[in-house]
Amino acid sequence: LKAIAEAPCKVIITGEHFVVHGGTALAAAVGRKVRVEVSEGRALSVASDRFVGAPPLDPIRAVLAEMKRRHGTESRLSVSIASEIPPGAGLGSSAATMVALASAVARFSGVELAVGGVVASAMAGERVLHGNPSGIDPNVCARGGVLTFTPGRDPSEVPLDGRRVFLVVQSGRRRSTRKLVSKVSEMKRRRPHLFAGLAAAATDVTSLAVERLRAGDMDALGRLMTYNHAVLSAAGASDSGLDGLVDLLISLGCPGAKLTGAGGGGSVLAVPPTGKEKSVLSGLSARGINAFRAELPVEGVHSWLS
Ligand code: MEV
Repeated sequence: LKAIAEAPCKVIITGEHFVVHGGTALAAAVGRKVRVEVSEGRALSVASDRFVGAPPLDPIRAVLAEMKRRHGTESRLSVSIASEIPPGAGLGSSAATMVALASAVARFSGVELAVGGVVASAMAGERVLHGNPSGIDPNVCARGGVLTFTPGRDPSEVPLDGRRVFLVVQSGRRRSTRKLVSKVSEMKRRRPHLFAGLAAAATDVTSLAVERLRAGDMDALGRLMTYNHAVLSAAGASDSGLDGLVDLLISLGCPGAKLTGAGGGGSVLAVPPTGKEKSVLSGLSARGINAFRAELPVEGVHSWLS
């Protein structure tokens, strides 16, 4: 008997970093997935298509310990991870993995776990990896769809009346969320007034972005995202490579683009010009840049027995 869970990755549409400091961010699940299988083992063993050597066990152990503590689940398990999500790319690869793991372990142990319980256990692994995460990533990967997130409040679903299309463009440079979060936090410590202004702007942009996304006004949403990129850049999350990608996407006809996730490398999220995603994607591929089309909304984690 084995239990299988699949979780999607995520993009942050507006508000990352400032959400760590109490702001509100808008995020969505995206169709690339991680699949985690668990079956009985004599001790914990983990296999992953992601790592040449042994995968890092500490975050996995932390999730299993949290699951055991809260729900009495088994932790001597054989775990296998297969992922389509590029790691270190700002797309929540670790959160998706931790969420799928918690969900598969619950299924394997016959524990009915509500989505909040999956997130709570996944957070134990996220804390090992990222230090002080806001919790937005596991919430999006577990719940799916589109949501706004403010620390300390329940995430709020943003219902859409149809599909919305974005492009996820990869800088090809991996980076550490932990380092970028501490770089921006350091900027807050050194320049508290300037940071407060940027944080207020980011939260305002999020509420405007929710309205525009719901209305399907993707051009206006794109412009808000470019503005948010400038705000993130002022807080220290961008670099010349990401600024260059944003400029390139706009020169290829996109109404707007911004870094997504922690920045410092990773990915850029763009709104493509209506009906012209293919021409933007081929313009990027001609320059050797990897990108994919992301259509919202996408379902959250689900699990089953096999
Ligand atoms: C990472 O996807 C988003 C950040 O805001 C960190 C966090 O919220 O934990 C940079």
